[in-house]
Amino acid sequence: MSRKKTIAGAFSAAAATYETAARAQVRAADSLVERLGPTATPLRVLELGCGTGLLTRRLAATLPAGSQILATDLSPVMVQAAGAGLPSVTFAVMDAEAPHVTGPFDLIASSLAAQWFADLPATLARLAGLLAPGGRLLLTTLGAGTFAQWKDAHRALGVESGVPDYPDAPTLAAMLPGARVESLPLTLSYKDARTFLLSLQALGAQTPKPGHRPLSPGQVRRIIKAMGSPCAITWDILLLDYRI
Ligand SMILES: C[S@@+](CC[C@H](N)C(=O)[O-])C[C@H]1O[C@@H](n2cnc3c(N)ncnc32)[C@H](O)[C@@H]1O
Repeated sequence: MSRKKTIAGAFSAAAATYETAARAQVRAADSLVERLGPTATPLRVLELGCGTGLLTRRLAATLPAGSQILATDLSPVMVQAAGAGLPSVTFAVMDAEAPHVTGPFDLIASSLAAQWFADLPATLARLAGLLAPGGRLLLTTLGAGTFAQWKDAHRALGVESGVPDYPDAPTLAAMLPGARVESLPLTLSYKDARTFLLSLQALGAQTPKPGHRPLSPGQVRRIIKAMGSPCAITWDILLLDYRI
């Protein structure tokens, strides 16, 4: 199965549990809407990777009447879940890396979906090309400091974690000349590392980086034990803001 199908399948299977575990995702969506600020005129909006609609609901509540929101996701089950409570928004299944829309859009927004893209620099360039003059791309994704404590515990045992290689803020900014990127790290407390793993599963976010060899159950148990209880885990949320 392709990695994209694996990612979409994991999120589809988690649509019903996603929001029970989405603490960092709520913070990221709130930060994005706060950064957007007040808007006087209706906007044409494209949202990518809408999931169950955490950001979609916030945009629909914030933007002026007459705004047109097209919310999209790779997972049909996520699209269905998000669409249930938002009749004013148009929903579609779409791969953000191959958008079948022409725009132009006044705002392209995406919260914590871009960390799943296979080619982020190419996707950012493609999305910038869909912006109307004066348009804005606002996106949150995960940065290099994400799950640092989990990765350290692996290193201490001489093994590598399945956490994908996320960029730091300057690296992300360099992917789209003119973009400004801010790091907004959030450290969450979990009962223990097993609870952290279960929460990733509830989110549908358990797909490891390409080529990762799973650890043995014994190695996982040792890492969980080494991390103690409670355990702190950092989500390094990066906020990218680009205006054309
Ligand atoms: C962590 S969830 C974030 C959902 C929502 N934006 C939020 O803030 O809660 C990531 C979402 O991105 C979607 N996704 C992953 N890769 C994608 C792609 N290439 N194109 C569109 N959506 C994608 C997943 O299906 C999932 O719903």
